[in-house]
Amino acid sequence: MSINQLPKLSIGPFTAPLPIIQGGMGVGISLSGLASAVAKAGGIGVISSVGVGMNEPDYKKNFTEANCRALTREFQKVREQTDGILGCNIMVALSDYEEQVDAAMDAEVDILFLGAGLPLKFSKNVTPDRLTHGHTRIAPIVSSGRALEVIFKTWDRKYKTIPDAVVVEGPMAGGHLGFKNEQLDDPAFALQQLVPEVVNAAIPFEQKYGRSIPVIAAGGIYTGRNIRQMLDLGASGVQLGTRFVATHECDADPRFKEAYIKATKKDVCIIQSPVGLPGRALKNTFLDSVAAGGKHPFSCPWKCLRTCDYKVAPYCIANALVQAKRGNIDHGFVFAGANAWRVDKIVSVQELLDELIHDFTARG
Ligand SMILES: Cc1cc2nc3c(=O)[nH]c(=O)nc-3n(C[C@H](O)[C@H](O)[C@H](O)COP(=O)(O)O)c2cc1C
Repeated sequence: MSINQLPKLSIGPFTAPLPIIQGGMGVGISLSGLASAVAKAGGIGVISSVGVGMNEPDYKKNFTEANCRALTREFQKVREQTDGILGCNIMVALSDYEEQVDAAMDAEVDILFLGAGLPLKFSKNVTPDRLTHGHTRIAPIVSSGRALEVIFKTWDRKYKTIPDAVVVEGPMAGGHLGFKNEQLDDPAFALQQLVPEVVNAAIPFEQKYGRSIPVIAAGGIYTGRNIRQMLDLGASGVQLGTRFVATHECDADPRFKEAYIKATKKDVCIIQSPVGLPGRALKNTFLDSVAAGGKHPFSCPWKCLRTCDYKVAPYCIANALVQAKRGNIDHGFVFAGANAWRVDKIVSVQELLDELIHDFTARG
């Protein structure tokens, strides 16, 4: 069994020995600990920028500065450990999205994954030349071929270039979902349908720019066989979230990971997040109280998400996720993919990747 039994994944000038990306997971779930372990083992390790500054003493006063400072420090910690490929996931819906993109590009992160909104706009520091020739390559996260077209057409017109890869995240993923509730179980929106749709949507742009656009499949991918199926459908790689939560290196408190082990299929539920999107999480007393109409009033000094109306939101999602990351699960809640109930033990990143490679190569 060897790493060479899987195809490599190239995004721009970066080639990962394994076609496996560890999805960015906020708040504080994928920081330098997890990202460096994955990058070291041959995948692409991704730090999530959302809430990264939460432990900075001036977080409440200088929200954006604190986030950008902490983010840069997390990148440095990875770079002290590995030359592997490092990504950063930034939500377009963040109020300091543009500043965070600038900070990540200044730090020469290899790949930026931009989701929870369409990355159509940047600060003036992100020039067309930087998008075309700069160190950092960009991979938007989409949930349809249509979204790819909107992004790529806009970039083509505005910047005379196109992104370097695209992640298509289906309805089985953990965290916020780019679908309407009624689409989540509709077979027409299954990842198996979306991957060929997005691969096809990329073709005219690949032809115009004379380069291939790797499509990365995400959402509900659990085994090596699932990975093989996605590559057979035309994906160049996969992005996994849930499986990487259940690793020793994941940056969450052990109680967060144990919630996955304890979860049964019935515990995996869909919530309406204050962000304005559905999200997939594990049922607990906090979510039960919210479902019963309970409110957890809060004041909001910074408005971290553009789409959150904090005056009417029943709770602060950032605070709920910070509590869960710290292990105070019942003061918040745990985001999880549809397959989280299948997790039965915590392993190392290397053990997880070995298992996936072994299963990928098994016949049948
Ligand atoms: C705990 C958790 C937090 C997540 N946070 C984010 C996030 O902040 N930004 C984002 O784009 N995706 C987020 N995701 C989605 C993952 O990056 C990944 O694409 C998705 O979970 C893949 O599906 P899987 O969990 O079934 O493997 C999160 C997922 C989980 C499980």
